[in-house]
Amino acid sequence: QSQKTRALCELAPVIPVLVVGDATRAEGLATALVAGGLPVLEVTLRTPAALQVIGEMSKVPGGHVGAGTVLTPDDAKRAKDAGASFAVSPGATERLVRACEDIGLPLLPGAVTASEVMRAMEMGFSMLKFFPAEAAGGAKSLKSLAGPLPQVSFCPTGGVTLQNAPDYLALPNVICVGGSWIAPDADVAAGDWAAIESRARDARTLR
Ligand code: 3PG
Repeated sequence: QSQKTRALCELAPVIPVLVVGDATRAEGLATALVAGGLPVLEVTLRTPAALQVIGEMSKVPGGHVGAGTVLTPDDAKRAKDAGASFAVSPGATERLVRACEDIGLPLLPGAVTASEVMRAMEMGFSMLKFFPAEAAGGAKSLKSLAGPLPQVSFCPTGGVTLQNAPDYLALPNVICVGGSWIAPDADVAAGDWAAIESRARDARTLR
């Protein structure tokens, strides 16, 4: 269940979380991130343009484009149809997990507590998103989960920055982190691809 998302998470230390309102920005943004060394991209389904953005970005060579904020079976289907090669969810429900399995869309589901992690393990997952990372106790919490649940790896997301990312990446149960700091709205709106590529390069050196 988790082999594909784990392989994706191993490609770079950071997955940029992208909230893009204008599909004309998609190609330039994805090209800058891939050039900067961050090929795995999460496009949140939070803007009306998100599915079109996924479609445009998935044409960029070298990129792996997934949909974020996937909450329902319908979200998963629309994301897959748009060209997403994986899905990210803040949580995990049986309905969503089953839908992703049915359509062959690798899912990175979210979990925070030991019970949520154990339930995800029962559903076949060993690679999870830890969300909202900072608000849920940050690296300290994740480190505590590694004691009883060492077989599960995480991509912490939510409040992660260039400054605190090393604390997460130093943990044995963290493979990569996710964050929106790589591509701030202002740079995306201005099409400042050089600034975004440079931030991607800094992030790339985190591991
Ligand atoms: C999200 O889905 O919004 C992510 O968790 C991004 O969080 P961040 O904006 O704190 O990086």
